[in-house]
Amino acid sequence: MTGAGVSAASGVPTFRGPEGLWRSFRPEDLATPSAFERDPALVWEWYAWRRAKVASCQPNAAHEVLARWSQHESTQVRVVTQNVDDLHLRAGTRDLIRLHGSLWEIKCFNGCAAGVRAWRDEVLTVTERLPRCPHCGGLARPAVVWFGESLDAADVARASQAASCDVFLTVGTSAIVYPAAGFARIAQARGAFIAEINLEQTPASAFADAAVLGAAEDVLPTLDQLLAAG
Ligand code: APR
Repeated sequence: MTGAGVSAASGVPTFRGPEGLWRSFRPEDLATPSAFERDPALVWEWYAWRRAKVASCQPNAAHEVLARWSQHESTQVRVVTQNVDDLHLRAGTRDLIRLHGSLWEIKCFNGCAAGVRAWRDEVLTVTERLPRCPHCGGLARPAVVWFGESLDAADVARASQAASCDVFLTVGTSAIVYPAAGFARIAQARGAFIAEINLEQTPASAFADAAVLGAAEDVLPTLDQLLAAG
């Protein structure tokens, strides 16, 4: 399970860190359906800024190690992420489970039948004319999960399946946003060994079997070497 801390070394701001997004922006103004209803131009301006920021970033060593692990035939490593930056995808992660959607996908705000499924759009620019649903002509919105919204049931089911594992590694997340933060406990209840990698303590540190205080982009390559050395 990964969070914003995994992309920090790539230059993507976290949410609650010292330079975190929620220090300078109010989620209720930018990341809720009512905020979009109230001021879609402001919300789109903010997502356009985040897309431009992420477009200038590259996957780092943490993404690369997890991508390699996910490609191994022998070891079944499944990456579940809260991140919407798709840097895991760009690193080549296979069968990635994205719980909170993607900055690079959009969908119909009205939820029209044809537009309810997200479509990828890496090139859209936000001008006066805000993005529109090609099916119903209504406003299109970023296909990310906003506060107060439910996650996609299929993604939750896949993440829950992945939580039936031997080792559950939680990396770079403050472990306070649910339901994502609940999977470590589910895995533990199913007998998994819980390991955490974070620069600081989180609520998960209290029940983790191993909590490594360190940067994901340093700890994961070291772990990879140790595992390779057998
Ligand atoms: N290596 C490891 N951990 C790091 C690093 C790093 N290089 N840099 C920061 N961290 C840790 C921080 O200590 C913090 O615990 O990553 C965590 C980032 O926490 P948040 O900013 O809260 O991000 P995240 O847990 O992913 O947020 C969850 O909240 O705002 C919503 O939908 C949004 O997906 C997001 C969700």
